[in-house]
Amino acid sequence: MTSDPTLDDRVPSRTQVAIVGAGPAGLTLGHLLHLQGIGSVILERSSREHVEQRLRAGIIEQPSVDLLVSAGLGDRLLRAGMVHSGFYLRYDDSTHYLDFHPHTGQHATVYGQHELVKDLIAARIGTRRPLLFDTEVTAISPTGPTASVRYRTAAGEHTLEADFVVGADGFHGAGRAAIPAEVRGELIREYPVAWLGILAESTPAAPEGMYCPHPNGLSVHSMRGPKLSRQYLQVPAGTELGDWSDEQIWDELSLRCSAADAAPLETGPIIERSLAPLRSYVSSTMQYDRLFLAGDAAHIVPPTGARGLNSAASDIYYLYHALVAHYQRGDDRGLDGYSAKALARVWKAQRFSWWMTTLLHTFPDSLDYDRQLQQTELDYLFSSEAAQRSLAENYVGLPF
Ligand code: APR
Ligand code: PHB
Repeated sequence: MTSDPTLDDRVPSRTQVAIVGAGPAGLTLGHLLHLQGIGSVILERSSREHVEQRLRAGIIEQPSVDLLVSAGLGDRLLRAGMVHSGFYLRYDDSTHYLDFHPHTGQHATVYGQHELVKDLIAARIGTRRPLLFDTEVTAISPTGPTASVRYRTAAGEHTLEADFVVGADGFHGAGRAAIPAEVRGELIREYPVAWLGILAESTPAAPEGMYCPHPNGLSVHSMRGPKLSRQYLQVPAGTELGDWSDEQIWDELSLRCSAADAAPLETGPIIERSLAPLRSYVSSTMQYDRLFLAGDAAHIVPPTGARGLNSAASDIYYLYHALVAHYQRGDDRGLDGYSAKALARVWKAQRFSWWMTTLLHTFPDSLDYDRQLQQTELDYLFSSEAAQRSLAENYVGLPF
């Protein structure tokens, strides 16, 4: 069930909280519950190596940093994370800087999600509580006197009984599917574009993150270190990774981020590529009897606003406090109201992600009117303290 001898893979047949998924949501919840003496089993269908190398976004909001630090999970994040007080917007041949700090007193932290997952796995191992890799949950039974989880390992099929099951298993997991279709609605918006992402051994284009809305499409220039850049190109939906050569990627990134006041983009070896469709998705409910959904299992945002990891963090914050109230005080109000509470903040992240996405992308079906609106929105942003404050408070993270 696990290839890692340091992991405790003696799986009880019963636990308090069964957590499906060893991504940021599941791992953070497992550790927070452990600190309160609440037991859990984390079941992950991929290998440890796979989840620790999976490249995702890298912007961590202040409330998410605070949650991780409060749980003793933020040491490396605070050491290696890059503190950003704002971001750059480069368009129409000139560069603008939006400083969050004067408006919020806070900042954003750039730290690769896969690095955070490594920290969370190491912390889980330190608790000696079960973390099962190569373990796929095949069915969840969320109703009755106890919930149960069917899972498959190389050794065969097994069942785990639990007081509660948390579906922290991402957009393609088993959690959301365990809520009957007649109970669960979904609200979806698909965008006609995708992001082709690269990790490259090159100097980042700017000292902090930079968005370059361009007639050819948006380019985003972030980083993972002083000589490690994380950059994205807007490409048409349906694009395949093989459609773009390294040279074509660099040529287009250089074109879209060029400006009279800027040095040419430094290129370098591309060591990773990724392709992500842009979609917005929200499940109408995040709970069903003894099952609770958290993170990508319940909602997806386009990467434009870098909210995905942070929306998972706010779900976990609410679910953790609800479970502690249940176990320590017999108070179920948090559990009963979890979905409504979590969705209220999820929709604010959805709104911000939609706003950033429609502001910065060049959509194939855009009208001249739409493009003029985008220009006007950008001009308003840099002429209004109120507009800048609104963007700033969303980017550093609305309070949980
Ligand atoms: N059984 C066990 N594990 C599963 C199953 C299953 N049936 N289905 C999915 N998983 C695992 C996946 O392998 C993955 O490791 O659940 C985990 C879900 O992790 P994430 O997809 O990272 O989701 P989450 O923890 O909600 O974090 C959200 O991840 O996708 C990014 O942009 C997103 O930054 C956001 C963050
Ligand atoms: C990243 O650093 O991966 C990143 C930055 C800004 C975004 C999305 C991703 O909007």
